[in-house]
Amino acid sequence: MVFIFYVYSLFMNMTDTRPIGIFDSGVGGLSVWKELINILPNESIVYYADSKNCPYGSKSDKEIINLSKKNVEFLLSKNCKIIVVACNTATAASIDILREKYNIPFIGMEPAVKPAAINTKTGHIGILATKGTFNGRLFKETSSRYANNIEMNIQIGVGLVELVEKFKQDTKEAEDLLVQYIKPMVNDHVDQIVLGCTHYPFFYKRIKKIVGNSATIINPSIAVAEQTQKQLVNYQLMKKSDSSVFYDFYTTGELETLKKIVSELSKNKHKTIFYQNLL
Ligand code: DGL
Repeated sequence: MVFIFYVYSLFMNMTDTRPIGIFDSGVGGLSVWKELINILPNESIVYYADSKNCPYGSKSDKEIINLSKKNVEFLLSKNCKIIVVACNTATAASIDILREKYNIPFIGMEPAVKPAAINTKTGHIGILATKGTFNGRLFKETSSRYANNIEMNIQIGVGLVELVEKFKQDTKEAEDLLVQYIKPMVNDHVDQIVLGCTHYPFFYKRIKKIVGNSATIINPSIAVAEQTQKQLVNYQLMKKSDSSVFYDFYTTGELETLKKIVSELSKNKHKTIFYQNLL
């Protein structure tokens, strides 16, 4: 009996110090990383930005699948225990294949159509995402399941991802594009606007300026971080102490924007940060 209790308590105290892996076509997934470090402060994280191949949104499914496999294999080579696909476009094209091919839990993302459809009072919701995300199975299935009787104002955010990659989210150029995409949603009386791409939360303030109080802006990053936490518990992969936490960042593009955004988001957090350019 004592022995059984001893084994049980060992099991309960098990801690997995391997990092969480996260990838995106570029720096957009940092909007998810920000929520992960808040909700899971004990966990180390390896972030992989495939900025050289960004944007994914206009690529074929086949290209995105191959890039996603490459990204996952990099993260596996860094000993990651779970992988967050912090990219709606990569999730849309590749999540089923990744889950089938690799023996590791994956967290994917899709535009938050369900909460928008549940909460709308006007019966009109707006969704801003990439072409690849709108064409994916997940978006189509979720829309037909939850938003059958809802008017959806769908907008492809052409050019927005590229602006964030160049750290130009706070420019007149960004403002003009956002007005072009968001204003028709406001005119259409949407009261929920879904940010269906992880690069878009970096435009939050500008979008808010355009919509005022007429609509709620839905950023699914917190829900993704919560889902990651849930799966770490389910698979018994949690790291139980805050010792030796590290955040490693790798990019296939330039380091400049990545470093700027990370330093903005990680204010007051004293962890070991490492950057490497894989160019
Ligand atoms: N952050 C990616 C997403 O969530 C950007 C897509 C792209 O690279 O076009 O969809």
